[in-house]
Amino acid sequence: MQELSEMIAKIRQEIKSGVEQLGDSRAVYEFKKTFLDSKAGKISQLMKEMKNIPAEGRADFGKAVNELKVWANSCFDEIDTRMKEKEAKLRYESEKIDITMPAQKRITGKLHPVTQVRNQLIDIFASMGFEVFEGSEIETDFYNFTALNTPQDHPARDMQDTFYLSPEFLLRTQTSAGQIHVMEKKQPPIKILSPGKVFRSDDDATHSPMFTQMEGLVVDKGISLSDLKGMLEVLVQRIFGEGTTTRLRPSYFPFTEPSVEVDVSCFECKGKGCKLCKGTGWIEVLGAGVVNKKVLENCNIDSEVYRGFAFGIGIERLAMLKYGMNNIKLLYESDLRVLEQIDD
Ligand code: PHE
Repeated sequence: MQELSEMIAKIRQEIKSGVEQLGDSRAVYEFKKTFLDSKAGKISQLMKEMKNIPAEGRADFGKAVNELKVWANSCFDEIDTRMKEKEAKLRYESEKIDITMPAQKRITGKLHPVTQVRNQLIDIFASMGFEVFEGSEIETDFYNFTALNTPQDHPARDMQDTFYLSPEFLLRTQTSAGQIHVMEKKQPPIKILSPGKVFRSDDDATHSPMFTQMEGLVVDKGISLSDLKGMLEVLVQRIFGEGTTTRLRPSYFPFTEPSVEVDVSCFECKGKGCKLCKGTGWIEVLGAGVVNKKVLENCNIDSEVYRGFAFGIGIERLAMLKYGMNNIKLLYESDLRVLEQIDD
């Protein structure tokens, strides 16, 4: 029995000092097994000695080994709980999310500047009651010119160098072609907006063979040029800011009479004169006029009863002014260094 109590003391000592060295719950599990594994564990082995003990000493032996077992178990339980707490804390630290950290910048796509300006114009006109009509990019000579009071041999055809697809078909040079389609189908009151691509054989820093226009057409009783002027004032203030005004200059288009070029007061220098407005204080932004009676009649609209006005805006021109660009090509090259600087 002397031997047994020594062995028990030795195992206790072994567990006590061994437990201090353990670094994590996995090690606790492995270490515990070396003592309490039902087959190979040192304490389990000790139990097997029972049969070699004289009968009178067996009860004491069993009691002592059992006490050791209970003690060892509680000892391992305690260290196991401590390790698991420590591990949970470490995991919590490593998985902690710092919500004060600045978020990673996500680069998202955005609408093309021309689309942005186009949408802005549509919003403004829609708030004035205009509906959108989108015509087709391939037109007939009739819709693009003849019905717009520009017959064959009319000198005004030279104003727009045309891409002909055949003697009859062409790439539309102006969204004005849409005016005829609308008036053919519908009697007044008419209030439409027709945005779209147009094509002209023209190519320099401020012109491109393809560009975008926005046509407006209003036909009703009692319409006059002052209605156009009033509407344009609202438009330019919404686009270029309050305090911007317009002026109308006489011009010529075969399908409007009288015809005007519309200038806005320079929003850069407020009319004093600068590089943008070439010192004049004014910038030309669109062509417009009162719909020529002949055009109304071409569409079977009674020109004695109805009057209309029309206007055509170059969207790229507006975008270039708005974003301070000096070359129209910047709008088509999709250079991210340029596009990233543009946002509304
Ligand atoms: N279609 C003309 C152009 O492209 C602009 C315009 C439209 C003028 C409507 C008057 C009325 O130059």
